Amino acid sequence: MRYSAFVFDAYGTLFDVHAAVRRHAAEIGPDGQLLSEIWRAKQLEYSWTRSLMGAYLDFWKLTEQALDYAFRKVPSADPKFRDRLLDAYWRLDCYPEVPSVLKALKAEGARIAILSNGSPAMLASAVRSAALDRVVDDIFSVDQVGRFKTDPAVYDLVTTAWRLYPAKISFQSSNRWDAAGARHFGYRTVWINRHGQPDEYLDLSPELILPSLDGLVAAS
Ligand code: 2OP
Repeated sequence: MRYSAFVFDAYGTLFDVHAAVRRHAAEIGPDGQLLSEIWRAKQLEYSWTRSLMGAYLDFWKLTEQALDYAFRKVPSADPKFRDRLLDAYWRLDCYPEVPSVLKALKAEGARIAILSNGSPAMLASAVRSAALDRVVDDIFSVDQVGRFKTDPAVYDLVTTAWRLYPAKISFQSSNRWDAAGARHFGYRTVWINRHGQPDEYLDLSPELILPSLDGLVAAS
């Protein structure tokens, strides 16, 4: 392999953010998917606005606030499920190919980390519940810098800790805006386009686009 250091975004890339609502789909009713999409969109919006303001609040608080907003926006969904959905967020499913791809990278001698907006407690819990703790070497949370992605100081956490140039690190994200931030910082960037989205941020193109993490080992 040309690369020996791999960094993964967490939510949407390794862990399925819509798994929480899906787990309670029957109780939530027909607008579950809408609720889940608003929840995710607001969680991200809050991270960007707070970074720009310089008013950091940890990602767990943003996740709670975003869900409260989503319930207000989708009145057919009963807010009595709030705590159950939040609880499920600590144990999200990982995508099916994730364990085998990370193990294959590890078997090639690669170093593996997560770099995420998630709080340290959220990330530790997600990694543990997906049984990825033996393959992930390091978990980097934006909490250390008090700003969210796409602030370059976030991407710099890994290069500083690992003492590597950005171009030596392969960064994988399913979030196109995160891939743009990583590319801008100088990482080798792989966009995992899980849902066949149209491309954007065309001046900040990833080196590689894959429909899932399958194929990452062969292309690295
Ligand atoms: C992350 O895990 C935002 O989903 C993104 O950092």
